Amino acid sequence: MKYLSSLKSKNLSGQICLLRADFNLSSAELRRLNAEVRRKKFSIIRRPFSVSPRIAAILPAINFLTEKGAKVVILSHRGRPNPKSSKLQASSFTLRPFAGILSKLLKKSVVFVKFDTTNNLLTSDVDRPLKLEFTTSQVVNLRNKIKNAPGGNIFLLENLRFNAGEDKNDKKFAKQLASLGDFYVNEAFAFCHRPTASIAGIPKLLPSYAGFSLENEIKNLSAAMKAPKKPFVVVLGGIKIADKIGLIENFKNKADKFLIGGGIANTFLSARGDQVGKSLYEKEKIQFAKKLLKSPKIVLPVDVIVKNGSILDIGVKTRKNYAEAIKGAKTIIWNGPMGYIEDKGLRKGSEAVLRAILSSNAFSVIGGGETLSVTKNSKLKTQNSKLFLSTGG
Ligand code: 3PG
Repeated sequence: MKYLSSLKSKNLSGQICLLRADFNLSSAELRRLNAEVRRKKFSIIRRPFSVSPRIAAILPAINFLTEKGAKVVILSHRGRPNPKSSKLQASSFTLRPFAGILSKLLKKSVVFVKFDTTNNLLTSDVDRPLKLEFTTSQVVNLRNKIKNAPGGNIFLLENLRFNAGEDKNDKKFAKQLASLGDFYVNEAFAFCHRPTASIAGIPKLLPSYAGFSLENEIKNLSAAMKAPKKPFVVVLGGIKIADKIGLIENFKNKADKFLIGGGIANTFLSARGDQVGKSLYEKEKIQFAKKLLKSPKIVLPVDVIVKNGSILDIGVKTRKNYAEAIKGAKTIIWNGPMGYIEDKGLRKGSEAVLRAILSSNAFSVIGGGETLSVTKNSKLKTQNSKLFLSTGG
């Protein structure tokens, strides 16, 4: 895939760009973002992660494209609407609020293309099971609407998962989407692992580019993945081992240590035969954890914070041990909080890891929405040339 940055000297006037974003925010995240944007408590330049990183990530590409006179059609999914359901819970999964948010952040108007039978733009799928694709007349009408708009206009299409063709990577649906634009830009790093119509289908049909943020992700993560400087420490937390299997598999030969915290530590502790009380753990991953425990690279908490019978953070000795391991590292990847960070009192483990990373000399990557929220909520200064904040989990 080529990079959008290669188009810097090109004239894009009147061209239509399909830009794949990832607006997969939970309702709580969306509420927080809305409140933040309403209060205008953001500064994209000074604090790029003060708005949701996935939203912040797409703004430079949109500005670049519209300043060059291109029209931008933003595509995204949100949530997982049930394809068999007769109601799509449209209000929970709609992308409508993002049009207002983007328009405030970009200081430009953003036209939301809704599901509406009256103007026959897209389907009114909201009250019946998902359709695979749009009807021909809907695509023609939408294409004309975009074509007739002046350069610099921005459109946001309703949730792509309201059409079953998105997840099925349906060829016809991909073709319909591709027919709306002249070229395609991917800025959905956290969604790139899903082979859907808008991720894998459109690039087969249109000239395609990785956006600025995706380029940044690729370059920084390649540096950590291809030839990490040793010692290489991976810090893993969060709730589910299932979400971390890719990371563990990718790094099990390259990393020197895996420092384990969060809910996944409970599964390891239980696999080792420790009592975890009422703590969340994954029974079905015990065998997998047992196998990994044979490796001396897996480092588990030696003490934990327990509340009402549940392990909710790593303890003081563990924080020290982990900080020590991080101090000596030359490459660090951190994904997943060490504790139940929703509760301020249970952020100490995650903050200790963050502090250790920031005072190390290692090249570090911190990734995942929850992990980034630790950086966001911390008073520590996280802008640092050796630290890369990744939008992907
Ligand atoms: C994410 O938020 O991790 C990505 O958008 C993937 O979403 P999905 O797991 O619903 O496919």
